[in-house]
Parts: sequence; structure tokens; C-alpha cells
Amino acid sequence: MSTNVLTTPLDVEAIRADFPVLHQEVRPGVPLVYLDNAATSQKPLAVIDAMTNYYRMTNANVHRGIHKLAEDATVAYEGARERIARFINAESAVQIIYTRNATESINLVAWTWGVENITANDAIITTEMEHHANFVPWQVLAERKGAEIRYVPLAEDGTLDLDAYANMLDEKVKLVAIVHGSNVVGTINPIEEMIKAAHDVGAVTVIDGAQSVPHMSVDVQALGADFFAFSSHKMLGPTGIGVLYGKRHLLEAMPPYMVGGNMISKVTVEGSKWNDLPYKFEAGTGAIAEAVGLAAAIDYLDNIGMDVVHAHEQAVTAYALERLAEVPGITVIGPLDATKRGGLTSFTVPNAHPHDVAEILNTEGVAIRAGRHCAQPTHEHYCINATARASYYIYNTFDEVDRLITGLYKVREMFG
Ligand SMILES: Cc1ncc(COP(=O)(O)O)c(C=O)c1O
Repeated sequence: MSTNVLTTPLDVEAIRADFPVLHQEVRPGVPLVYLDNAATSQKPLAVIDAMTNYYRMTNANVHRGIHKLAEDATVAYEGARERIARFINAESAVQIIYTRNATESINLVAWTWGVENITANDAIITTEMEHHANFVPWQVLAERKGAEIRYVPLAEDGTLDLDAYANMLDEKVKLVAIVHGSNVVGTINPIEEMIKAAHDVGAVTVIDGAQSVPHMSVDVQALGADFFAFSSHKMLGPTGIGVLYGKRHLLEAMPPYMVGGNMISKVTVEGSKWNDLPYKFEAGTGAIAEAVGLAAAIDYLDNIGMDVVHAHEQAVTAYALERLAEVPGITVIGPLDATKRGGLTSFTVPNAHPHDVAEILNTEGVAIRAGRHCAQPTHEHYCINATARASYYIYNTFDEVDRLITGLYKVREMFG
């Protein structure tokens, strides 16, 4: 058993009361333990109610109506954009582009800025730590353009090899795409420093914040990021909406991603003119109720305080690392120091495929994820096929980590 003093700055029981989905049994007598937060988070009543109220009292299309509901919907939709801008300290709300998710945000940059700016003489840098969302678009873009692509390797301890990064930065490099927080090894990368180094050679940076914005305070201006992408559904908000932040001069110079309604200022048979930021990148009807839900999620997180969110997750992760080390044979990948990580632990169990691990844990009520977590190059680096991943959020408790560990002892018994 652990000798750790289990402390968190959060009143977790009060938080849990806000999440209806957590209060269920997966079968009689077996309460749910939800440890699949890196895949998607659960939603508090504040978010569910904000979206329900929007549909009950407001629902209308935005921008083009001159009736009360259309005006109210527009205020809610644009108010959400302002809320997001404040949350990540964007200079202006016009730099907040609504997308469907982080994947679409990154693709938007690849197929607009990338197509316009990358040539066969250029190099792109990404890393072995990326989710496929920040890897495959650059690979495909490099192939199409005949550009070179360079990958920053992982170091032994699951951090990025920063010496290798420094050595591969030269004047050929036009774009650097880095994940802020890894969804497999958990590492929080020193992106401020990495962005500065990229800027020193004149490169533009794309930061994948899908696993950082939900869990820690992020200030895009302090980081200096040129583009920054994240998804609502991993931060207590609904699915179907994501965000791309971009520096204004870059967004202004980029062509649209999709074309059609909403993103134009003038259309004639001779040709069309694009709307101003951010609408130039928002063709068609947006995810209006989802924007309202995301703003409510941000209010909820801000009420707690992102530093408190982060401190709680670090405490739970430190406890999980300590307890996982007690189970014979389990190997955790990534830094073993919880202060260098986000709130997740990926691991292997001897003789048991991660899918078997997840299945046995499921019978114990513990929901984790098994597989490559859309990060095949990271798994290749470790010469492993797949991992089991337990990921934590504001509503997870130390007791739930104990339930995970009890389940893992059962796996060990069954698989020898
Ligand atoms: C680090 C990271 N980047 C990008 C994504 C893609 O997010 P989405 O599927 O919401 O586009 C994920 C999702 O797991 C992720 O963990």
C-alpha cells in the first residue's frame, strides 16, 4: 500500500455531484470508474443545461436573422468565441476559428497555409510523440510538395530529444508541428522554448493543445504559438466543436479552407470575395449549441481554476505512478516524474494484450483505453504494439486509482 499523503486542492466529491454519468453501476454492485478522459471527458450539468436551455429557448441560425431568436443565438455564439479567446489569452476573438475538432484545426493549417507556403526546397519538423492528427497531415503535405520531413525522436525518459531538435533546425525548416501534452507518454513539452527556437530560423509553429488546454493554464501569447489547436470534447464540452487559434497576420494571408455560405462577403458570376476573420474559415452553419456548451465548460473549469485542475491531476497521477510500480511486471512508458506529465499513464502488462487488460478492467467497472491511441510512431519507438492507458480528470479520486490497481492484480493473476 501507498505511504503517500493523499492530498488534492479540489473538493472532488462536490465536483462529482455535477457529473450525472459518473453515478452509475456498470453491473449491479459495480460502480463505474471512468479513466478514459484522454479520449473524451464527461460533461457537467452546467454544460448539459446550457445546451438544453439554448435549444429550449433560443435555437436559431446565427448572423443572418433579424428576429429576436437569431439575435440571441448570435450573441451566444459570438459570446462563446470571446470566452474562448479570454481563456487562452488570444489577442482578439477574431483569431478564434471554430472547427469540428483539433484534427480539423490542424488540417485547416496544412491545407491552407501549408499548401501556399511549403515548397520542394523546404523542410517540416514534427515529432515521434505526435497524435496522428499532428503527424499525418504534415506527412501527406510533405509528400505532395516533395518537401523534406524531419522527426524529433523521443529520448530515453519519454521526453523529446531537444538536442536532436536543435540540430535539425536550419533555414530550410518552414514549419514546426509539436504536441503540447502527449496522449501516450504524458509528457508536457517545453513548447515555449521550442517555439522560440523555431522562430529563430524563421519557421511557423503549429501546436497541438488537445491534451494541454483541458488540463492546465495555457496562454497562447506567452507561448508565442503561431497556430494552436484543441477540441472541446476533451475539456468537459460537447463533441462537434474545436478551435484553431492563429496569429492574425497569418490568418489574414491564408486562403479559405472550405467555401460556400457564411465565409463570403460578395458573390457574383465573375467571382467571389471572402469574408473577414474569423468567418473566412467558417463555411456553412456552425456548431452553435456546441459553442454555447464549450463556453459553459470553460466557465466551469475557470471557476475551479486551471492551476487547481492541474494540481489535482498531478496528485492523482503521482499516486497512480506509485501504485502502478507496486504491481509486478507493469511497465509505464513516459517520464516517471508526475511533475513532467499530464494526467495519464500508459503501460504494458506482461503476457496480457492491452485489449485483454481493458476487458478485464471493464468487468471490474474500470473504463480505460487500449491500443495505439492514434500514435503509432510513439509505440514503434518503444517497439511495442499497443498500451493500456488510464487517464484522469478533475472528478477522479485516489480510491478510483486503487480500483484500477485491484483490477490489474486480477489481470496479473489470470495471465501469470
Ligand atoms: C494529443 C492529441 N492530439 C489530437 C487529438 C485529436 O483530437 P480530435 O479527435 O478531437 O480531433 C487527440 C485526441 O485524442 C490527442 O490526444
